[in-house]
Amino acid sequence: MRNERSDFASKLGMVLATAGSAVGLGNIWRFPVEAGNNGGAAFIIIYILCVLALGIPLTVAEFVVGRAAHTNTAQAYKRLGGNRFWRQTGKLGVMTGWFIMSYYIVVAGWTLAYFFKAASMTPSSAEQAAALADNGYWERYFGAFIAHPLLPIACMAVFVLMSHFVIVRGVEKGIERFSKVLMPLLFIILIALVACSFFTEGAAAGLAFLFKPDFSKVTLRMVLAAMGQAFFSMSIGMGCLCTYASYFGRETNLLRTALHVGMIDTLVAIMSGIVIFPAVFSTGIRPDAGASLVFIALPNVFQEAFSALPWLGYAVSVLFYALLVLATLTSVISLHEVPTAYLTEDFHLSRRAATTVVTIVVITLGTLCSLSIGPLKGLALFGRNLFDLFDWTSSQILLPLGGALITFFAAWILDRSILRRELTNDGTLPYGHARLIVALLRYFAPFVIFLILISGLGLL
Ligand code: PFF
Repeated sequence: MRNERSDFASKLGMVLATAGSAVGLGNIWRFPVEAGNNGGAAFIIIYILCVLALGIPLTVAEFVVGRAAHTNTAQAYKRLGGNRFWRQTGKLGVMTGWFIMSYYIVVAGWTLAYFFKAASMTPSSAEQAAALADNGYWERYFGAFIAHPLLPIACMAVFVLMSHFVIVRGVEKGIERFSKVLMPLLFIILIALVACSFFTEGAAAGLAFLFKPDFSKVTLRMVLAAMGQAFFSMSIGMGCLCTYASYFGRETNLLRTALHVGMIDTLVAIMSGIVIFPAVFSTGIRPDAGASLVFIALPNVFQEAFSALPWLGYAVSVLFYALLVLATLTSVISLHEVPTAYLTEDFHLSRRAATTVVTIVVITLGTLCSLSIGPLKGLALFGRNLFDLFDWTSSQILLPLGGALITFFAAWILDRSILRRELTNDGTLPYGHARLIVALLRYFAPFVIFLILISGLGLL
């Protein structure tokens, strides 16, 4: 039974929106940091293998469930699986969405603040001169910014309102239309930044770090880190891909779409590495500077890497933070859609009301997360501040758990005829390649996800 709901109107819009969900902070912020911490090129090779062997099959599994059910994630499992346990699985996906969004929007707010800050720091400004003369400048700035009682929360709220503005317009007029503008803009900026990075002094060293593999760095921990990164980066393990797939048309080739999304996502991650590492090597910062890389090391790095051409350094810096804002926005939009679709369909709220409820709830949770690393540092549960708790719970537990359940459901519970029908578009596509995906889902993915889970819990 197919209910009345708006779908993506074009193939391009559908791929761009789904790739928009995947491309986010995970690509530009987390990927280079993970690569830096895990030996550069060797990590990238392992990461690509993880995308192929795990990321693509799981994306396909979520697509199958979403399109076959043609409803929000919580309902999808109920409709296809029937029993009470699987109904809860769908709800777990929606809950994971709230969790991730609550801390993700805090960092999203930082990207917006840094974009405006970068734009205000022209080469002729006194503040720029002070920042360049003082190595500790950005560390102090970042510390003061996140400790401010209002500023990070205001930036976060503005960011969520931008997403609200898109989501409230619906799938075709909101998500699809905006993705068709935001994603091409993102690619143009990224290509321009990659081109500039070849002209930095550290280009050769940075590129060698990224592309010369040192396999002595490969350990089980590193492989698991690459898998966890693939999960997060491809938006796997919660309701996002499933919800978007419920808006796919019957003629969409699910396998091909998953491949396109995986390719775009990986390409953006690697290109971000090409932007970041040559600049980092030009200024002598350690490539494993950690999560602070983007907000503490990079603001000065671009200016220093192009010190002979200060206005180019300025432009690169502003464009880099614009890139972060765009990538983050398309991911926040996809996170916003999951609970909105759930509230609209399961609680019969209008789209406007559902979007507003989600906006208010996540701004409230995000405010608590933000305060827990700023003015309310004591706000902790189980020994972690709320921000870290939300991050850890969602990326180490909820996403792998969701991924495990989705895999098991698609490979073992779902009626084989539905799986086959979705993978072959009612018998119009050959089943050949899909066989490999199904085999990976049945015999490989559950084992590997189990390893990720126990490693996340510190048991490995
Ligand atoms: N894939 C996004 C990123 O790489 O930043 C993060 C994300 C978005 C995770 C949506 C999960 C999700 F459902």
